[in-house]
Amino acid sequence: MSGEILVTGGTGYIGSHTVIELLKADYDVVIIDNFSNSSMKVIDRIEKITDKRPILINTDLLNKENIYDVFEKFSFSSVIHFAGLKAVGESVNNPLKYYYTNIASTVNLCEVMTAFDVKNFIFSSSATVYSAQNKMPINEDGNLGPNNPYGRTKLFIEEMLSDLYQSDSNWKITLLRYFNPVGAHESGLIGESPNGTPNNLMPFITSVAVGKQKNLKVFGSDYNTKDGTGVRDYIHVIDLAKGHVQALKHNCEPGIKTYNLGTGKGYSVLEVVKTFQLVNGVNVPYEIVDRRPGDIPISYADVTKAKDQLNWNAEKGIIEMCKDAWNWQKNNPNGYN
Ligand code: NAD
Ligand code: UD1
Repeated sequence: MSGEILVTGGTGYIGSHTVIELLKADYDVVIIDNFSNSSMKVIDRIEKITDKRPILINTDLLNKENIYDVFEKFSFSSVIHFAGLKAVGESVNNPLKYYYTNIASTVNLCEVMTAFDVKNFIFSSSATVYSAQNKMPINEDGNLGPNNPYGRTKLFIEEMLSDLYQSDSNWKITLLRYFNPVGAHESGLIGESPNGTPNNLMPFITSVAVGKQKNLKVFGSDYNTKDGTGVRDYIHVIDLAKGHVQALKHNCEPGIKTYNLGTGKGYSVLEVVKTFQLVNGVNVPYEIVDRRPGDIPISYADVTKAKDQLNWNAEKGIIEMCKDAWNWQKNNPNGYN
């Protein structure tokens, strides 16, 4: 295959699973990461799973000269851009850090790509760009309107990439809006390793199950949903990773295209907890507490477009998501630490 694939943030949670799928599909992979939210150990684990070792460049995308040096050494055919900061709460408390890191690093990357005439780009966006007022399932034409700084960085980058394409119609850009990625590689060798107390549901459940947290706080039971708790479209991280391989294969025509990556099914918090307990035979004590500010009742994707145009759909269900999340956590109670 001609040219390497540059994967920024390739040692992070979704990036590392995507690197595995790319290596399995015989792509040559170069990773840029600054390890601000990941571990060097990921590379050994990727090699253990695939028998291939991706090239790793430890650098910060905020340093444009360093990116330039990397592009001088390789002949990239495409870039998949995962790197960025993603904690919603932190983005509320420190918005400038989020606007600077997420936006400036993308500007730097795109400038260097332009200089080297590498114009194939796949960007990690999020369902958080949609406004809370949409009817479910949401398709890609849903109303936009994120309600926190993190989400706004994603929307601004989407718009910036659209402007970039308007200015130069040689760009081939795919925006992937992820719903709720969960689970881990079935080997239990790589997975999500949040710093400190987890914010998201599945990592919190696994940390209760492993005994690090006393119980799960279920944020609200009075939503207008099947059992009153929040409903989300959880997607196995391996399905998500495969979605990137398909997006890469289909990113052949100039233009900017947007796809939801989810399963199209919604599960409530209590459904996830009950499934997790049942399939893993572990107890997850929980208590109902107040709603978390900023949460929406229901979010799930219309995934028709990805199915029709990328020839992709999620294959793993909630049982595998719960099984693989637990397999990773019980084998690595402290993540990569
Ligand atoms: P992650 O934090 O595990 O991975 C991000 C990686 O980027 C980390 O390895 C981190 O060290 C690296 N990084 C951060 N800033 C960098 C910089 N300036 N230079 C170089 N490397 C840098 O996050 P993830 O869950 O794998 O998410 C990947 C992408 O997908 C992010 O852009 C995130 O916003 C987006 N996303 C994630 C979710 C989710 O629930 N995990 C949902 C929607 C969208
Ligand atoms: C969160 C982010 C969103 C991001 C998405 C990606 C917030 C406010 N939003 O969304 O920007 O795109 O992750 O995966 O952080 N829950 C509990 N107890 C917990 C944790 C969560 O009851 O300890 C509930 C939540 O109220 C929600 C569901 O579980 O109903 C899922 O929560 P979470 O995993 O944090 O994801 P989102 O809220 O969808």
